[in-house]
Amino acid sequence: MTLHIEKTTTSKISKVDFSNLSFGQEFTDHMFECDYIDGTWQTPKILPYAPLTLDPSAKVFHYGQAVFEGMKAYKSDDDEIWMFRPDQNQKRINISAERLGMPAFPKELFFDGLNNLLKLDNEWIKKGEGNSLYIRPFIIATESCVSASISDSYKFMIICSPVQSYYAGEVRVIIEDKYSRSANGGVGYAKAAGNYAGSFYPTKLAREKGFQQVIWTDSCSHEYLEEAGVMNVFFRVNNTLLTAPTSERILDGITRKSIVQLCEHEGINIEVRPVKVSEIMEAARKGELLEMFGAGTAAVISPILGFSHHDESFELPKVADSYATYIKKRITDIQQHKAEDIFGWTYKVN
Ligand code: COI
Repeated sequence: MTLHIEKTTTSKISKVDFSNLSFGQEFTDHMFECDYIDGTWQTPKILPYAPLTLDPSAKVFHYGQAVFEGMKAYKSDDDEIWMFRPDQNQKRINISAERLGMPAFPKELFFDGLNNLLKLDNEWIKKGEGNSLYIRPFIIATESCVSASISDSYKFMIICSPVQSYYAGEVRVIIEDKYSRSANGGVGYAKAAGNYAGSFYPTKLAREKGFQQVIWTDSCSHEYLEEAGVMNVFFRVNNTLLTAPTSERILDGITRKSIVQLCEHEGINIEVRPVKVSEIMEAARKGELLEMFGAGTAAVISPILGFSHHDESFELPKVADSYATYIKKRITDIQQHKAEDIFGWTYKVN
């Protein structure tokens, strides 16, 4: 299917201060969209970035039938555009879509749209440490009808936002033992919009208590550590990294799986297994819990400085040989094409 491209006549780029960007607030000049009507994906289009017009009864507004992805593009010193494992995002959005009863978006259309959009908005991707373009593909239910049933029409879109290093400030977390992000048989493994909406209120409560994020535990027993905020989570006990296995409750994070692969390759001891709250508490009491960090596309790695559970609080030590710092550098060097990509993770936009 031929991609229809309509270029903007008025670029916004000169109005953007690229040295002072807040995450996800500025968007590039163009967007990709493709509608699903009568059982087929229609002509894909790249259009000037603009608000959408949707009927107020569109199902996405009422039932949250929506899935999304987060990915990044980088510009190398020789002006090439590189992406990090976009094949994984392309597969995952369709895994998420299936769980929400939505049609899969074809791989060829995804990559054709993505490549053309990034070439068109090339100037928005800045070189240099910490600069990248955050790319947000998503699918929403557009049928105009408030009956609570699967939509018969959808819109797939990609929008792009220039970002700098994601600095979340100092992060201290509380281990959640009341609310849950996901449950067995639910949508936790999908990047469903509602998973994030459902996390906002417990996070607000945590903030009111002086914490920036929550660590999610399993919904049945609250005995196992699962995710941190909107990220996967890792714990370093002595010289071993621990992270929970993916499951129907846990997102199969691309940064998460890249960290596991990198550690296995570099001989950093890593165990992918259920991690009990009690063992992390015990390690913290003995001074053996050396690091905790979240891992996701936006921040890559977000160190956690301290945590609280029931009436116990811990500050983590400042370790000289931080795994978080080392792994973040290894991964971002590969992402920015500064280090050899021995894993075949990077993808050149052309
Ligand atoms: C990620 O870092 O992977 C995310 O999904 C973050 C996004 C929700 C802002």
